[in-house]
Amino acid sequence: MNKRQFSILLVIACFSSCYVVKNEIKKENYLLPVMNVDADNLQSTVREELGKKLFFDPIFSIDSSISCASCHNPTLAFADTHQFSAGVFGRAGVRNVPSILNIGYHPYFLREGSVPTIEMQALIPIQEKNEFDHNIVDIANQLKEDKEYDKLSRLGYGREIDHYVITRALGVYQRTLISNKSKFDKYIAGKMQLSRQEMKGMDIFFGKGNCSSCHGGFNFTSYKLTNNGLYKKYQDIGRMRATKDSSDLAVFKTPSLRNVSVTPPYMHDGSLSTLSAVIAHYNRGGEEHLNKYPLIQPLGLSRQEMKSLELFLNCLTDERFQKIP
Ligand code: HEC
Ligand code: HEC
Repeated sequence: MNKRQFSILLVIACFSSCYVVKNEIKKENYLLPVMNVDADNLQSTVREELGKKLFFDPIFSIDSSISCASCHNPTLAFADTHQFSAGVFGRAGVRNVPSILNIGYHPYFLREGSVPTIEMQALIPIQEKNEFDHNIVDIANQLKEDKEYDKLSRLGYGREIDHYVITRALGVYQRTLISNKSKFDKYIAGKMQLSRQEMKGMDIFFGKGNCSSCHGGFNFTSYKLTNNGLYKKYQDIGRMRATKDSSDLAVFKTPSLRNVSVTPPYMHDGSLSTLSAVIAHYNRGGEEHLNKYPLIQPLGLSRQEMKSLELFLNCLTDERFQKIP
């Protein structure tokens, strides 16, 4: 072999085996930290048991047909795969169900981030016409008749079951829904290698794709309230619904990308049916919108790069929350 052939061989060998991630991520930023919990609703096994029982109980819906778990399905990463899920009497909602895994870390709730605590959030589906169409006082009165609920409530909170106990126990249970065993988590812990293509996708995610500027951090979101250029004109006014401020028009909370492969379709309205459609959207740079974040610009990714990015997003799945057929 002459010198030239040798150096070509070296280049080929290096290309296929020593692919290096250019944008090194700080591993400590990708481990789940201790969760902050308000002193007025600390975790306990009894409270958790009560919250779990409530979460799966159809008593919440006016016709006793559905529970929280009907839309936040444990085998679909605590979301579902409908564009708009049906509430009572088959009434469809107007927003796509988000996953509530790692929800205890979120600083605010709903797709426009307008509800400040997980306890308060529970009141929304209870009253919402397209969800349970019920009210918490009637639900509490029904639950008071049940010996098991009465026992758990007194043990957990030292009082009979009422709105105070219901919202708090649901909060306690939801804070236990932790996703931290994905392929990516194993890679961070040094227990697993990612393939060369997955590494390439990771490099794009943290590098020229700009994804981590909004979806960075251990939960793959910084919870930024922003616009990602999905439409020129939105039917859903997003955060403006809560603030009435036009700078919040079509602004949504950046969702976590953990388990994202399990929960199509995507975006607040479930309008993109696959991850490759989402990536194609970002690669085009999105539509022009007054509130669009400046980094949403055409990315110029090749087909191969788009595929690698998708493979990396698939590494964020914690298979414990996925029904394996
Ligand atoms: C009919 C389907 C449905 C039911 C039933 C339902 N949810 Fe939801 N949930 C949704 C949808 C849709 C959203 C997003 C709503 C929005 O942003 O306006 C959501 C949002 C949430 C969020 C906020 C997520 C985030 O990222 O901010 C939490 C927490 C939550 N639900 C918990 C519950 C609990 C607890 C129950 C039972 C008491 C429940 N849900 C019942 C459909 C449902
Ligand atoms: C400006 C901040 C920002 C940047 C940069 C960004 N996103 Fe997003 N992303 C968002 C917001 C906000 C949403 C929710 C929009 C909505 O609900 O309509 C979102 C939604 C998504 C969703 C849908 C999640 C779901 O459960 O519905 C995926 C997947 C996603 N982004 C992946 C990416 C990828 C991959 C990149 C890089 C190519 C990226 N994002 C760059 C802010 C951003």
